[in-house]
Amino acid sequence: MVRESGGTSLSLSPGNLFFNEDCISGARRHLPDNSVDLIITDPPYGIGGDQLHVHYNRDEGFVLAGYVEVPATRYDEFSRSWIREAARVLRPGGSIYIVSGYTHLGAIISALEENRLSLVNHIIWKYPFGVFTRRKFVSSHYHILFYEKPGHSRTFHLESRFGLDEKGENGSSLNYQDREDVWSIPREYKPGVIKNKNELPLSLLTKVIQYSSNEGDTVCDFFLGSFSTARAAIGLGRRVVGFEISTPLFQARIGEIESLSPGFLLPEIRVPEPRFTPNAGCRWSAGEKENLITEYQILKEQGATHKEGVRVLSVRYGRGRWAVEKVLHTARNSNLSNCKEVSRR
Ligand SMILES: C[S@@+](CC[C@H](N)C(=O)[O-])C[C@H]1O[C@@H](n2cnc3c(N)ncnc32)[C@H](O)[C@@H]1O
Repeated sequence: MVRESGGTSLSLSPGNLFFNEDCISGARRHLPDNSVDLIITDPPYGIGGDQLHVHYNRDEGFVLAGYVEVPATRYDEFSRSWIREAARVLRPGGSIYIVSGYTHLGAIISALEENRLSLVNHIIWKYPFGVFTRRKFVSSHYHILFYEKPGHSRTFHLESRFGLDEKGENGSSLNYQDREDVWSIPREYKPGVIKNKNELPLSLLTKVIQYSSNEGDTVCDFFLGSFSTARAAIGLGRRVVGFEISTPLFQARIGEIESLSPGFLLPEIRVPEPRFTPNAGCRWSAGEKENLITEYQILKEQGATHKEGVRVLSVRYGRGRWAVEKVLHTARNSNLSNCKEVSRR
């Protein structure tokens, strides 16, 4: 349902809030401090984005009209203003992911740091089919700045998509590959479909949402464009709040977004394979127990938490988590009693 409110359109799809407004004044007006769990956003690039078709030789017939660009001369001030609001509304421990080209990357990084947000990862999103060039390298990446608001523990679901034990065809860890900070994700090719400039791929958005939020969390996008973040977040059962200044863009997508069923993407996203425990119930040999304890110590030295160590070992030994815990617990107790023996002597 779209309502007019103080001269701006406001959409109240169940659990979500979308404002056809400037994100800076809109956030000040509508969003309380510390009220969102995750921000994913893709600000205008300050490179004449409303004219990009001229450079890219694109058929603008299939691009939604109404994209609002920010002049390069105002980019620093603009970045400081919206990132100040983003830092205010993000809860302590909340994460923010900003997609940026390289032209104004420095302005965004300075604004993040000025607002006391802390770097978690600087991700490179590599996409195929960059713009063809002859006298320089082809540009085929964007930056994704992943920062956090300090003050509370941050949500990061280590095994939201691949279990630590899942292997690819060449035996490499799928979890490790998925968590490398260079993401190779194609842009969506939708021949004949009308889309926004710079529409983000669904697979990139679901990846961020799966790792950095829980179902029921509030995800915020300051620059909705074609509402791709909103679509992914609703699809994964999150609530959404967002802003889009352009009325044609807002009107073009809001009806479709309001008709989405919360959680509609959940059945099709990548989740870890169920675990396999072929040795459950078999007796442990003394050698196996000794190896398990040594491997656990190595994992801890490498920085694994107790929980992660147990998970890795339960897969390696084909046994349930409790069986591994029991061996480690017995070893710990026998070490303690050995220490007592020594100290008594
Ligand atoms: C790079 S696009 C976002 C694309 C979006 N992530 C998607 O997948 O479609 C940036 C959007 O920000 C909008 N915009 C520009 N200035 C704005 C402002 N001050 N407040 C809210 N939206 C703004 C533009 O109209 C444009 O749709």
